[in-house]
Amino acid sequence: MGDKKMFDLSRRIALVTAGGHGIGREYCIALAEFGADVVCNDIDASLAKETIEIVKPYGHRALTIQADVSKQNEVDQMVKRTIDEFGRVDILFCNAGIMNPLVPLHELAVEDWDRVVEVNLTSMFLCMRAVLPIMLKQGKGSIISTSSVAGIKAGNAPLSHCYGATKAGMIGFMKHAAVTYARNGIRINAIAPGLHDTKPVGLKLSLEESEKLMKSVERSIPMGRFAEPREIRGLAVFLASDASSYITGQVFATDGGVTA
Ligand SMILES: NC(=O)c1ccc[n+]([C@@H]2O[C@H](COP(=O)([O-])OP(=O)(O)OC[C@H]3O[C@@H](n4cnc5c(N)ncnc54)[C@H](O)[C@@H]3O)[C@@H](O)[C@H]2O)c1
Repeated sequence: MGDKKMFDLSRRIALVTAGGHGIGREYCIALAEFGADVVCNDIDASLAKETIEIVKPYGHRALTIQADVSKQNEVDQMVKRTIDEFGRVDILFCNAGIMNPLVPLHELAVEDWDRVVEVNLTSMFLCMRAVLPIMLKQGKGSIISTSSVAGIKAGNAPLSHCYGATKAGMIGFMKHAAVTYARNGIRINAIAPGLHDTKPVGLKLSLEESEKLMKSVERSIPMGRFAEPREIRGLAVFLASDASSYITGQVFATDGGVTA
């Protein structure tokens, strides 16, 4: 293989959870640009469709699957549908994640804790549980989860207690899985983004509250700015492709120096 081909994703089937917006959409675009067929999951069918419209011009196959990836039956259906359509899964991005309500820990409702754990951490288990048997048969696969700097460091993620716990949990789970499947041709890694300016769909804050919070976080970033959403693309392609063939069980922060 020539060196330039190491990033080539032609004929690879990529399944991206929560690909309808933000970072997940960036993953879908980058994967398609480097040749992959993309299955874009989202709980919101119209957002997934928007992503696929952006991705289609790259000329590869593209499919949307609406599913709440915190639900086992919906995940199993999503993976079955992917196999029925494309026959394999080469790349899985476990990307679904929601923030906890930004209240002090002692005011957090138990139902909010449960929902954040389900969407952020349980979904990763469910998706990997459904996809790993396929990758084991293939003898090859790359799994990438979207953790967060909040899973590594608490200092610049105020009130992100439950969120940070799930994102740290995702890293621990990723490492254990990576070691378990390292001899099966399956690589498992995590991306830990710092703040990307994705205008998250689920964060319930007033404009004033959100601007205040964002300004204080921005000041703490060594590079002095948030990331553009597209700045996640290079790492995504690197980890999905053979360019990272000897890398497993690692977490890569893309955070303007926050965790340095
Ligand atoms: N944006 C950031 O600055 C940032 C930083 C660190 C980590 N992250 C992580 O990146 C991932 C994506 O974040 P984002 O900012 O792009 O989010 P976003 O709010 O822009 O988009 C999230 C998408 O997830 C979908 N979604 C929500 N719950 C779902 C579910 N149960 N099943 C399927 N789809 C679901 C939403 O419909 C939406 O399309 C998350 O895991 C998040 O924790 C984001």
